[in-house]
Amino acid sequence: MPRPAELVVSYRKIIMYYRIIDNDIKVCLSVPSFSEDLFDLTNRNRKHLKEWLPWLDTIMRPEDTKAFIELQLQRFSRQEAIHQTIFYKTEIAGVLGFNKIDNTNKIGHLGYWLGKDFTGNGIMTKCVKDLIELGFEEVELQRIDIRCAVGNMKSRAIPERLSFENEGIIKRAEKVYNKYNDHVIYGLIK
Ligand SMILES: CC(C)(COP(=O)(O)OP(=O)(O)OC[C@H]1O[C@@H](n2cnc3c(N)ncnc32)[C@H](O)[C@@H]1OP(=O)(O)O)[C@@H](O)C(=O)NCCC(=O)NCCS
Repeated sequence: MPRPAELVVSYRKIIMYYRIIDNDIKVCLSVPSFSEDLFDLTNRNRKHLKEWLPWLDTIMRPEDTKAFIELQLQRFSRQEAIHQTIFYKTEIAGVLGFNKIDNTNKIGHLGYWLGKDFTGNGIMTKCVKDLIELGFEEVELQRIDIRCAVGNMKSRAIPERLSFENEGIIKRAEKVYNKYNDHVIYGLIK
């Protein structure tokens, strides 16, 4: 079995990759063939995800997930973003990636979500740890940025477990349906 880092030879040339996280968890660059299963997971978890994520009303059909993945692949080819799907055993469990790569300043903005049934087992912490390695080693970032709503303690626990620094709060950073959330900024420097 190749080491995970060896699977991404050069992220600028790659069209598909996967990384082995452990015996049960694998992450793959998101491709359109994942659309139906990823949409199903999203659809089953609307209530869980709507608490903190603002985009649920834009994903109403499998075609919406497919269009989103296609857009992310275009952005990947321009080195603007990386969107990965998480597999737990044979099932799609969630996603994570760099929502935005700032190539001028070598900063990756990292985001994630899991279906509720897959939470509580350390899956996301392990996947974020791997994405940090990919970001610093393959994408050559010098900083990784995670922003969490102040009240989203499950999300905040991930950068805190992985030794990110809490750099402070920005107020009214994001509209989530009918209210604006303040964000905590977490930073990790290479
Ligand atoms: C944010 C989110 C991904 C966190 O999920 P999570 O399951 O708590 O995170 P992890 O997969 O890293 O699991 C951590 C949990 O597993 C436990 N765990 C078990 N084994 C572990 C291991 N080897 N390593 C780390 N944690 C482990 C931890 O104790 C923790 O449980 P606890 O919260 O009861 O203490 C999830 O709550 C979610 O998708 N929320 C909705 C969307 C969202 O908020 N996205 C983020 C926006 S900023």
